[in-house]
Order: sequence, then structure tokens, then C-alpha cells
Amino acid sequence: MAIELSPQSVDVNPASSFLEVRDLRVHFPTEDGLVKSVDGVSFSLEKGKTLGIVGESGSGKSVTSLSLLGLHKGSRARVSGEVWLDGEELVGMTEAQMRALRGQKVSMIFQDPLSALHPFFTVGSQIAEAYRVHHKASKKEAHERAVEMLKRVGIPQPERRAKDYPHQFSGGMRQRAMIAMSLVCDPELLIADEPTTALDVTVQAQILDLIRDLQEEFGSAVIIITHDLGVVAEISDDILVMYGGRRIEYGSVHDVLKAPEHPYTWGLLQSMPHLGGDVSQRLNPIPGSPPSLINLPSGCAFNPRCAFKDQVADGRCLSERPELLPVLDSDKHIAACHLTGDAKAEIRSASARGTK
Ligand SMILES: Nc1ncnc2c1ncn2[C@@H]1O[C@H](COP(=O)(O)OP(=O)(O)O)[C@@H](O)[C@H]1O
Ligand SMILES: [Mg+2]
Repeated sequence: MAIELSPQSVDVNPASSFLEVRDLRVHFPTEDGLVKSVDGVSFSLEKGKTLGIVGESGSGKSVTSLSLLGLHKGSRARVSGEVWLDGEELVGMTEAQMRALRGQKVSMIFQDPLSALHPFFTVGSQIAEAYRVHHKASKKEAHERAVEMLKRVGIPQPERRAKDYPHQFSGGMRQRAMIAMSLVCDPELLIADEPTTALDVTVQAQILDLIRDLQEEFGSAVIIITHDLGVVAEISDDILVMYGGRRIEYGSVHDVLKAPEHPYTWGLLQSMPHLGGDVSQRLNPIPGSPPSLINLPSGCAFNPRCAFKDQVADGRCLSERPELLPVLDSDKHIAACHLTGDAKAEIRSASARGTK
């Protein structure tokens, strides 16, 4: 098996980064075969920093994040690899140990707030309860803390709105309430799984600003999962591009967006409105569809959709899986593509000329 070359795997101290994920695999046995939803994913993240995980729907982003919360425990999922959070390894933890961390040390904002908020309880009481799970606080203290959090996330008249039920909140307000609930215990790692997808553009921007402000205030590490590279460009320090449950490109946002190395990343960039540009601009979706996670195409999993595979000699894209290799002259940028550096630079500059 090819050894993935990454700056992280050279590092032998598991606790050297606040969060360090190594060779994470999450496989689901199904009647149709083994679904390899996450297959050898590694990354690291420091406190106060933000990692953006991007990829089309079905690329393994949510399954990755759920495993950081230990939410596959007790399911049929086969999880392997290591997840080090502040010196503790999570994959080997019991459900009880994980429960103690969840909410307190690591917390998640889900795509759909209604899945996280119970319809029968007031928003305030749910936030207060989330607080009391991890803190010895009276009901009154917890309620005060809930109101304070609602205020922090920009809910007007928080004292009154705390008594409302989730359905009395608008979509954007519910998302804020869920963020308040995720942050009530001041988690050191916050995972936001497509937190803005269902919201209109103005509310999206407000929610992203809010996450950024709160991160500054609390100094937490943030993972933001999205299929929108625009969101990542705006908010993240690092970017991990996933395809078919694997990493295909990883590096600082600066490096990856300045000189993306993988044709899939080029496709993602072309399928979004230009940064700061006209949102109504026509999008160019990547042709074809994401691969089956039971049988990935041989060679490079992206090859059936890649416009550049003929530029690689000997049909290697079809026969040989590209390793993740460091990109010249950058400290942690890695990509898995057989095209030569020169070929990629040529394609990038031709494409830049084309869009001018
Ligand atoms: N419990 C499960 N059993 C089988 N397959 C699953 C399970 N959960 C997720 N998957 C599959 O794993 C793949 C990745 O899913 P997911 O991480 O949700 O993708 P996304 O990148 O859109 O968040 C999908 O093909 C999904 O169908
Ligand atoms: Mg998802």
C-alpha cells in the first residue's frame, strides 16, 4: 500500500497539535458491500485556527466530523486510525468517556438546527440543559447563562426569546440558537457542518461573522464543513479537499487557492461564483457524478471526470493511484495528481488567461 507522505505523518508526537487526525477510516458494511466513507484521512489543527473541509455531497465530510465526536460508536461503522484531541486519543475511547467530552470539549453545529433542537422544549431550556450536563449549576444560573449566550449570538430580546419554542424562530435565528447551544460550554473544538447551506446569503454572511467573532473570543479551533469554497476562502486558515472519502488536496488556504494542484479543486473553483464577484454568474458544475464508495475507480478516483488525464503518459491516471505528494516550495501543501508541476502551472495560467 502506498504510504501517504504528509508533513503531519512525519511528526511522531501525537500531542504536537491541538487536534491531530491520522489515517482515519470509517467503513460501513452494507448488503451491497463495504462503503468506505472515509478512507485514510489525516489533518491537524491548532487552537484559534480554522480548517475548511470541502468536497461534493457524499465525499465523506460529515462522516469524518461525526467520528471526531465519537458518534459512530455503537453503530455498525468500522472506525480506525487515530484522533488526538489535546493529548487524548478519541477513537479508542468508550462511549461514556466520549460523552464527557462531547458538548464540553468538542461541539458541533449541524446543518439542520431542527435536528438538534427538540420541538417540545423551549430554546432557553435546551441551552440551559446543555450547560447543566457539564456544569454543576442551579436551574436559575443555567437559565441566565442560556440568555447570555442567546444575546451573544445576536438574538434580540434574549430574555423573552429564551421562552420560545424552536418553531417560533426563523431559520437564521434557529441556527443562531444552535450556535448558542454549541458554545454554551465553551468548547475548544467547534465543528460546523454546512452551517449556512439552508440560509439566504445575507444570513449566511452574518452566521459566518458570528462564528469568526466567537472563535476570536473563545480561542477555539474550528472545523467548517461546506461544499462552498467561497465560505472556506473567507473564514479558514487551512483547507482539506475530499473526494470519494479521501484527501486529494490539503494545505493553507493561501497556497491552495493561489495555486490549486488538483483538477477536482479546479472544478470546485469553477463551479462557484468568483470570490467577491457576481453571485448570479453562471456556475459550471463538474461533469459526471461522484464515485461509488464501494468500488472507487481504479487509479485516480477522479479519472472518469478529469479533463486532463490524457496529458499523463502511459494511462497512469487509470492504473495507478496517485500519492499525496508535497508541492514544491510550500510548507504543507500536498496533492494527489499525476500531472507534472509544469503541466499544472501551464493549465492554471491558460485558465487564468481564459477568464480575463
Ligand atoms: N450509516 C451509514 N451506512 C452506510 N453508508 C453511509 C452511512 N453514513 C454515511 N454513509 C455514506 O457515506 C458517504 C459519505 O457521507 P457523508 O460523510 O455524509 O458525505 P458528505 O460529504 O456529503 O457529508 C455517503 O455515500 C453516505 O451514503
Ligand atoms: Mg454532509
